[in-house]
Formats: sequence, C-alpha cells, structure tokens
Amino acid sequence: MRKCPKCGKYGETETQRFCNSCGMELFFPERFDDNKSVMNITVFHGSPRKNGNTRHATQIFMDELQKQGNVSFTEFYLPDALPVFCSGCTLCFSGKCCPNAQYIEPIIDEIMKSDALIFATPHYGACSMSGGMKTLLDHLDFFVLNVTPRKEMFDKKVFILTTAAGTTATIKPIKSFLKHWGLNRVYSLGLRLFTSEWTKMSSTKQAKFEKRIRMAAKKFYHVRKKRPYLSTVFYYHISKMIVRKYIGEGNYPYEYWKEQGFFKKRPF
Ligand SMILES: Cc1cc2nc3c(=O)[nH]c(=O)nc-3n(C[C@H](O)[C@H](O)[C@H](O)COP(=O)(O)O)c2cc1C
Repeated sequence: MRKCPKCGKYGETETQRFCNSCGMELFFPERFDDNKSVMNITVFHGSPRKNGNTRHATQIFMDELQKQGNVSFTEFYLPDALPVFCSGCTLCFSGKCCPNAQYIEPIIDEIMKSDALIFATPHYGACSMSGGMKTLLDHLDFFVLNVTPRKEMFDKKVFILTTAAGTTATIKPIKSFLKHWGLNRVYSLGLRLFTSEWTKMSSTKQAKFEKRIRMAAKKFYHVRKKRPYLSTVFYYHISKMIVRKYIGEGNYPYEYWKEQGFFKKRPF
C-alpha cells in the first residue's frame, strides 16, 4: 500500500493515488522507481576514523532511512575496502580488468545492484575529501558519460554527506564528478560541526544536527525518479560527439557506445 508522506496513513488499495484523510499524493513507501519492495543502498564510509563524526552522522542518516521503510544496506569502509591507489594503467577505459579488481569488482557489483548510493566523507583541506574517497572515485572514473556510462546509473539516486568546518569544497567536486555518471539525482548535506568529536558539541547543537540529518534522510528516501538533469542531457550530447569524432571506431568507448545503442538512443 502507498503511504501518505504528510499524515503517515496508508491507502486502501495498491493503486490509490491520493490520501483519504488529508488529500496528499501518496508515495510508494518502498523505493525510488517503485518496482521493488526493498531499497538497496550502498554506503561508502570515507573517514579512516571508524567512530568519527562522519560515521556518526551517517549512522543517523541510515537509521532514519530504516524508519521510513524497507531498506537494505551494503557498507564499505574506506580505505580498508580499497587499500590501493589507482595505478593509472587506463585498462578500465578499454573495458579490461583493473589490476585492483579484487577490491574494486565487489564494489562495482554492489553499485550496480543498488537503488541508491551514499558517499560519506570528512572535509580534508589538502584535497577536499578523504584519501580513501578520492581513491574510490579514481577507480570509478570509467563510469563517466564520455567513456563507458552504465544504463543502470540513470535510475539511481545518490546522497553525499560531509562533516567539517567548511563543506562546499568537499561536496562540489564529488557532486560534479558523480553527475557525469548520469545519475538521476545527486543530493548532499554538509555539516559544519567545528569539532573533531561529535560528543564535545553541546546537546542542543547535537540535537540540531541530528534533526537536519533526519530531515534530509526522510526526503532522500521518498524522492522519486525524476526527469534527467539538463546537465545530463547536455553531457550526453557532448559525449556522443567526443566518442564518435575524437575517440572513433576501433577504440573501446566507441565500440561500447555502439554495442549499447547509445549513439541511436539516449540511455535515459
Ligand atoms: C588531515 C585533515 C585535514 C582537515 N582539513 C580540514 C579543513 O580544511 N577544513 C575543515 O573544516 N576541517 C578539516 N578537518 C577536520 C575534519 O574534516 C572534521 O573534524 C571532520 O568532522 C572529521 O570527520 P571524521 O571524524 O569522520 O574523521 C581536517 C581533518 C584532517 C584529519
């Protein structure tokens, strides 16, 4: 049954569109594209401090998602889950096996199976995100539209969660990179904590942050698949031109695009 986002009541039939008691449009409580009963979510914990601020904030976010409905989490702790740098071999750009496949393949499998992804990282001044998170994103660069984009990406939603004093510097590059994967929606929340220990904040401050995290999680859970971003449409057309004109026949991205039918029909 569909659940009302306003009063929390359930409709009487599977197909009922509006709430009987308050008239709001009803949500399918289950998931993003309304087809499955469980929302599969892959979570990347980017802080090397396993019990640090980012983990704490992510835990609250996950807890709220669980309260909203049926969710299943697969969690990866960085850098443990991927303890090696990208070697720069570019084999992935040719559709070949990564030398770090033992680490990255299970991660890719989970991403593909997921309806939603969460990227959580502290802000590190040297290069915006933690080293573990940067290493993960380096290994996944071949997902970008002008190389070998995946059809599955166009249905997924993503949340970026960061903790620090300044958070825009972290969110901006991750968001802009992930949008190049063609993801349906990328949301974010930056928490300016001004402390390295969550518990050192006053209880009022802790409660304020917790409320913000829970509100964001609730919104994220219920958001439905939307039209692609205009930027996705734009990147797709630019990528099509790059792959066709500059990468060209005989090279892997071109052959991949051809095989997937992306030259003829856009994948979203
Ligand atoms: C190496 C390093 C660099 C950092 N650089 C910044 C920074 O430039 N700006 C900032 O606001 N916080 C910075 N911080 C603080 C952390 O981002 C902040 O304390 C964060 O909440 C820690 O998250 P964690 O407990 O999950 O590791 C830095 C922390 C470390 C360890």
